[in-house]
Amino acid sequence: MSKPLNIGMIGYGFMGRAHSNAYRKVNNFFDLAYHPVLKAACARSADKARAFADQWGYESVETDWRKLLERKDIDAVDICVPNNLHSEIAHAAAAAGKMILCEKPLAMNGPEGLKMVQAVEKAKVANMVWYNYRRVPAVTFAKKLIDDGKLGRVFHYRANFLQDWTISPELPQGGTGLWRLDAAAAGSGVTGDLLAHCIDTAIWLNGHIANVNAMTETFVKERKHTGTGKVEKVGIDDACAFLCRFANGSLGLFESTRYARGHKALYTFEVNGEHASLKWDLHDLHRLQYFDNRDEGPLRGWRSIHVTDGDHPYMGKWWVPGLQIGYEHSFVHQVADFIEGITKDKPAMPDFRDALRTQHVCDAVLDSAKSGKWLDVPKA
Ligand SMILES: NC(=O)c1ccc[n+]([C@@H]2O[C@H](COP(=O)([O-])OP(=O)(O)OC[C@H]3O[C@@H](n4cnc5c(N)ncnc54)[C@H](O)[C@@H]3O)[C@@H](O)[C@H]2O)c1
Repeated sequence: MSKPLNIGMIGYGFMGRAHSNAYRKVNNFFDLAYHPVLKAACARSADKARAFADQWGYESVETDWRKLLERKDIDAVDICVPNNLHSEIAHAAAAAGKMILCEKPLAMNGPEGLKMVQAVEKAKVANMVWYNYRRVPAVTFAKKLIDDGKLGRVFHYRANFLQDWTISPELPQGGTGLWRLDAAAAGSGVTGDLLAHCIDTAIWLNGHIANVNAMTETFVKERKHTGTGKVEKVGIDDACAFLCRFANGSLGLFESTRYARGHKALYTFEVNGEHASLKWDLHDLHRLQYFDNRDEGPLRGWRSIHVTDGDHPYMGKWWVPGLQIGYEHSFVHQVADFIEGITKDKPAMPDFRDALRTQHVCDAVLDSAKSGKWLDVPKA
């Protein structure tokens, strides 16, 4: 019989929904020692919190996250609010002895992230950051192939994350749905929002990023601010491209923009090794493309592996071979791994310290874009 794990959810937007869905589904598919209980949903507006709670089955609502943290019946807090709120809530949650599941990026910058790491380590509370792409089965499978040495020495790592939703200069900055355009709420633009995912996956697959050289651009320099009603300078990066060297000697090339007309969420990566290459595409997320130079001559070529067999990562828990799963399942997997982690006292990654590595790369990328210089990335 599994034990309850009482969840306090802060934020009811995109991620509030994605995580709530994962908490509700996880025990139907994974045999776990705990089952999440949707105890309380927190949002500033009581009406909106109530509507969200009714929709997803939360037992109660709060309108102030501090009140949520005071409650004895909450075991774990899920931080699904804009980036500038992660730190304050995480510090208070650690002090209150709550487990913390925090959305990415961990913090607004490295120094803020480091203090969050120190707070959770001092309080000894379980902690995790939602870099969910690690748990798309085809991406997890890519990790296995690399760790098994199938690629041999890695020469190149390439990643893109392309969108097109901020091209209009009429789009305001700040407020619901548009906080990503406001540097005060987001910290940075595509670097912390999109490249952070690419960087997390890259470090996970290919190790430490040693140094970077970046360029950023803000194509629309001023936008009306929803909060003040005035036209204000835009402080985020609309696009970012950077080169890097990994500690293993391979070369990296990363690009992200919200100005690639026609692309909505095109996250792709490719790794080229001595013996084999692999590539993955979020729009076709259940497939892994793989080329192995050791294959028999005339049959040698790119294989498109449908990652749906029972012996593929996570897939034995779902339907039958050949039937694929999607985006939302990566969050289900992350909840399952978090619960396994607290059960076995072996934390699911990335924890706050692991996620700090991505924060350091983001900081170096943004600093390099300002100075034009190659910059070293500190180890977390
Ligand atoms: N893992 C991923 O793939 C992924 C995807 C999208 C967003 N995110 C991250 O998740 C976080 C939330 O993003 P989102 O897309 O869900 O944003 P969203 O705009 O859809 O939702 C944000 C929520 O925060 C609430 N909020 C704001 N201030 C609050 C406060 N003081 N108290 C309580 N609630 C407050 C808003 O009302 C809203 O419900 C961000 O850190 C973002 O970077 C991660």
